[in-house]
Amino acid sequence: MSLVGVAAKRVVTADPARITPENPLGVLEDAVVVYDEHSISWVGPRDSAAKIPIVDHGDRVITPGLVDAHTHAAWVGSRHDEYAVRMAGGDYRAIAAAGGGILSSTRAIAGATEEEIAATLMARLRRMAELGVTTCEVKSGYGLEPDGERKQLRAIARAATRSDLPHVVATYLALHALPESAKSSRDHYVLRAASLLVPEFATAKLASFVDAYVDKNAFSVDEARVVCESARRAGLGVRLHVGQFADIGGAQLCAEVGARSADHLEHVDAAGIAALATAGIAAILLPVASFTLGQSPPPVAALRAAGVLLVVASDANPGTAPSESLPLAMALAVRMYEMTPTEAILGATRHAAASLGLWGGGTAHPRGALVPGARADLVVWDLPHENAIVQPWGVPKTWVVLRDGVRIGGAGG
Ligand code: NIG
Ligand code: FE
Repeated sequence: MSLVGVAAKRVVTADPARITPENPLGVLEDAVVVYDEHSISWVGPRDSAAKIPIVDHGDRVITPGLVDAHTHAAWVGSRHDEYAVRMAGGDYRAIAAAGGGILSSTRAIAGATEEEIAATLMARLRRMAELGVTTCEVKSGYGLEPDGERKQLRAIARAATRSDLPHVVATYLALHALPESAKSSRDHYVLRAASLLVPEFATAKLASFVDAYVDKNAFSVDEARVVCESARRAGLGVRLHVGQFADIGGAQLCAEVGARSADHLEHVDAAGIAALATAGIAAILLPVASFTLGQSPPPVAALRAAGVLLVVASDANPGTAPSESLPLAMALAVRMYEMTPTEAILGATRHAAASLGLWGGGTAHPRGALVPGARADLVVWDLPHENAIVQPWGVPKTWVVLRDGVRIGGAGG
């Protein structure tokens, strides 16, 4: 593919070199993005673009492709029965303790083949692409038993080979819930994950990150530390579910083990926030989950004031976040978490990419911003302004979605 260009009235670059206090998203007006299948080669004003074929999208807005940095998108089955009970007042953790919740999704994974899980995930990723997502982190964590986790990660790897879907980043969610078989052998379950499965999945290149659910009624800091240390030894990154229901010191564990992200954070105290800020760990905020659970927001103002990088993600899962829509999560971040549209857009593009190791740190072809050398991942929105992305709730408003310079979605002709 030779060089081509896309032009629009507004191009949101998210390029740190173009960002100023007056222009916090690095927006260029009447601008062109020039790219081929490898990367973006030039971004600048329309009238100084080289003489190459340019598709002009008129008054629409172009942004970097959206990056969903926290999903459980490789789930199968349905939890509609449990959802109805919960909406009528049933408690999420009580349902889980009675064998529903995550364990119900585990039974669905056990009854599905790798091909079936992959097909369900790919259909979901295709819908996410229509919503503007060009990179998606996908966790395992519904297999629980070694064979189930293997099967889920292999299904994720199948989806990751597809260039017509969002770029996939795989995470081994090592500690999510205790399967029935491990109820009386908790220590063995944790040790097996750390000493057998983390190295196995690292060697097989089935995961880039390891995750654990660090919370009251889930896994302790000491248990999570064991898998985090194994992840570091195996050369994998760490991202952790922290403080969704209670602050048990997960943020400090993130700092101790050099995690990339601390996710959820509805419950985190000042010391935890300071630990994240000092260690440069991103906060991944999941407003769809706290909305579904009827929870108060995380301490966003304190995280912002401490200088913690703010990321917004969907948490797509059948229990707490029954939505595949990152734009919906961005809308709720603005409505419920008092984030600005600018924070939501950076939190779903460059900041999200940074939390996945896809931006910064010398990454050869980064994602998450429209800069020369970056992957050609972008969205032409059928909207007049970037702030409108957080308004048409639940409706895909993409016109053209490009991943690595190739169209993967959008309603435009
Ligand atoms: O991020 N809380 C832990 N994990 C998921 C929910 C998993 C489920 O209920 O299936 C979350 O909210
Ligand atoms: Fe989650």
